[in-house]
Amino acid sequence: MTHTKDLRGKLLLLFTVTFLFVTVFIIRSSRMVREIPNPSFSLKACHVQVSEQPITPLQDTQHLLVSAYMDQRVKGFDVRIISIFKRDSVHPLHCIFCCSGDISTTTPANILPHSDHFGFPYGTTDVMCQIPLTCHRATHVSLLTEPNKNISTEQLWLPIRRTAVNEKEKLQFNFTVCISNLFGEYNNVLQVAQSLEMYRLLGVGRVVIYNTSCGPELDLLLQTYSQEGFLEIVPWPIDKYLIPSKGWSFSIHGGDLHYYGQLATLNDCIYRSMARSHYVTLNDIDEIVMPYQHDNLADLMSVLQQHNPNTGVFLIENHIFPKIYFEPGGRFHLSQWKDVPGVNILEHIYRETPDMNIYHPYKIIVQPRMVEQTSVHSVLKTFGQVYKVPHDVCRLIHTRVALRRELTLEQLNVDKRLWDFHEKLIPNVDKVLRRAGLLSSEGQS
Ligand SMILES: *[C@@H]1O[C@H](CO)[C@@H](O)[C@H](O)[C@H]1NC(C)=O
Ligand SMILES: *[C@@H]1O[C@H](CO)[C@@H](O)[C@H](O)[C@H]1NC(C)=O
Ligand SMILES: *[C@@H]1O[C@H](CO)[C@@H](O)[C@H](O)[C@H]1NC(C)=O
Repeated sequence: MTHTKDLRGKLLLLFTVTFLFVTVFIIRSSRMVREIPNPSFSLKACHVQVSEQPITPLQDTQHLLVSAYMDQRVKGFDVRIISIFKRDSVHPLHCIFCCSGDISTTTPANILPHSDHFGFPYGTTDVMCQIPLTCHRATHVSLLTEPNKNISTEQLWLPIRRTAVNEKEKLQFNFTVCISNLFGEYNNVLQVAQSLEMYRLLGVGRVVIYNTSCGPELDLLLQTYSQEGFLEIVPWPIDKYLIPSKGWSFSIHGGDLHYYGQLATLNDCIYRSMARSHYVTLNDIDEIVMPYQHDNLADLMSVLQQHNPNTGVFLIENHIFPKIYFEPGGRFHLSQWKDVPGVNILEHIYRETPDMNIYHPYKIIVQPRMVEQTSVHSVLKTFGQVYKVPHDVCRLIHTRVALRRELTLEQLNVDKRLWDFHEKLIPNVDKVLRRAGLLSSEGQS
């Protein structure tokens, strides 16, 4: 009896082990199948090719499509396609939809180039489409150069993404930070970790970064944040299609497109955030929107919004903390960070006073649903009012090379606002660096 039980137990064990083995093998091989390259297109309803890329060339044109959003805020239109157009080759286009499995008739597109393009040959452009009355539940959209022409199998379609929530739904995040573009071998790991952890302490729920390329250690850090869900990385291979400029001015920097397509990514990020975030801040990765009279962004915005109820755009002054000047006591010159590449923002406490005689750039906090088109330092089209936030209430802490190089150390302002957060900030930065495998072992506490 015991013997049979023993045998049965052994058989059961053998069976279980084999089963697990086979299961793991099946999962692994199916994963391998999924990893075979060519994930760019998929066949969906309407038997059309749906682009799953962040940049989609538009057939028969030199234009690039980025994303399509349901947007009924402008009368007569239903869908906005954010695009990058060759500005001297804009010809009429026609919108076509996939409607519950059927292809619609075409409607004429309204092409709206953004006013900011800084002289580059390519510029951000919105294509506005009206869904035909006969179309029920449009799921995908594409553009044709001629109305109702035969659609080739090469034609790529964009999914139409939502921008509104229904009444019962809650927005997922209070604040989203949109970091436009990462390019080159940018590897400023310590400053990025400190900035992202500062955002989190200030109440940011999601950060979106458009990534063309980055350095190896920063790649590890960003993967860590992305796995955790705090960071959404949008691949942005604009250099595969155009010669992106490393600068903001065509006459100075040359190239096809302003700053790796920063304007298109900022606009995309606002629309991407409409159905999930109360506020969106548009800033660079070396900038922190810092409240000086409140502990966090939610408290700041609730006060600002009370005094400015119809405002959807808040302009924040940019203040530079030059990285050549260090706090002399070395209080936050921490040994565990000595092998981490990048700037330690806690060591830079000297702030330039901006030269208000020259144009002073702002960065922006917006209510995404009140914005139609944005640029970098201002909003181009909005449904609400714009408010300039006083710098003693909130300013950008921007640690970088000096802007006003003529200023001596004595002419700078001592500003230790970041230090108010050190008790939480430092352990949080250590934790994420350790998880990314970027803290040297002797520095580990
Ligand atoms: C469009 O397709 C139909 C059916 O395949 C064909 O008869 C017609 O000639 C085509 N029209 C053009 C303009 O190619
Ligand atoms: C949004 O902010 C409010 C007020 O500070 C807070 O109570 C709430 O938990 C926050 N929601 C999220 C999703 O972070
Ligand atoms: C950023 O893009 C580059 C180039 O495609 C890629 O090698 C890198 O892994 C990406 N990093 C992240 C964090 O997505």
